[in-house]
Amino acid sequence: MIDYWLGGDQHHPVDVQAARAFESAYGPCAAIFRSLRAFSGRAVRHLAAGGVDQFLVFGAGVPAQGNVHQAAPGARVLYTDVDPQVAAVGRTLLAGLEHVDYVVGDATDLESIDRAALDRILPERAVRPVGLVFLGLAAFLDDPALAKALDAMYDAVPAGSMLAFDFDSTELAGHPQALAMMGPAFHMREPAAFGALLGRWTPTADGIVPVARWRPDGPPEQVPDAFWGGLATRE
Ligand SMILES: C[S@@+](CC[C@H](N)C(=O)[O-])C[C@H]1O[C@@H](n2cnc3c(N)ncnc32)[C@H](O)[C@@H]1O
Repeated sequence: MIDYWLGGDQHHPVDVQAARAFESAYGPCAAIFRSLRAFSGRAVRHLAAGGVDQFLVFGAGVPAQGNVHQAAPGARVLYTDVDPQVAAVGRTLLAGLEHVDYVVGDATDLESIDRAALDRILPERAVRPVGLVFLGLAAFLDDPALAKALDAMYDAVPAGSMLAFDFDSTELAGHPQALAMMGPAFHMREPAAFGALLGRWTPTADGIVPVARWRPDGPPEQVPDAFWGGLATRE
C-alpha cells in the first residue's frame, strides 16, 4: 500500500484495492506517505552528515524507493522486518548491493536478528555510532512493548548512536471507519505522551514534531499531522 502511495511499482492489485478502500474511508493518502518518506530521507541524511555510516532498520517494509541506503550512499545498512515474506521481497530488491542486506527480525526481540548478518553488515556496531531507524512501526506495539523495545535498542548500541522514530498521532480518531480498518492492535498516540516512551533516549533540540515540520528543506508539505517524529540520541 505504501509503495502504491509513493508511486512505485512493487505492489500488487490487492494492495491497490486495500489502499483505495482505505482512502474511501479517510481521504487521499499519497501526499501524507510521501511527506513521511521525505522525513525519513532528511533524518537519515542528517545522521550521515554527522558521520553515521552504519544503520539498522526495523520494520523496514518493502524497500522499494527512498530507502536508507539511498539517502546515505555508501553506508552499511541492515534492513529487518518481522514478516518473512516482506524480508524475502526486500532481499530480492536489494540483491547485489554492497554492504546492504535484509533479514527477518522482530524489533521487540533483538536476539531474533541473525547474528551472522549483523556481523557481516554491521561489524563495528558495538564500537562506532549506529543509526537506528524505527519508522512506521510504533503503531503496532502497545506502550509497554514499545518502551521495552526502545530500551533494549539503547543498550544494544554505543554512545553517540541515534534513533530516528515516528508514530501515529490521533488523526484517525476523526475517521472511525478508517480506524476500524487498522484493526484492534493499532495504537495512536498523543504527541505529548510519546517522550516518556523514549526512556533513556534524548530527543534532539528539534523536538518531537509533525514529520513535515522536522527540519524541512523548504516550505513544509501541507498535509494532516498524521505522523509525528524526530531524532533521539544515546548519551
Ligand atoms: C507500516 S509498515 C512501515 C514500513 C516502513 N518502515 C515505512 O515507514 O514505510 C510496518 C512494517 O512493520 C513490520 N512490523 C510489524 N511489527 C513488527 C515487529 N515487531 N518487528 C519488526 N517489524 C514489524 C510489518 O511487517 C511492516 O512491514
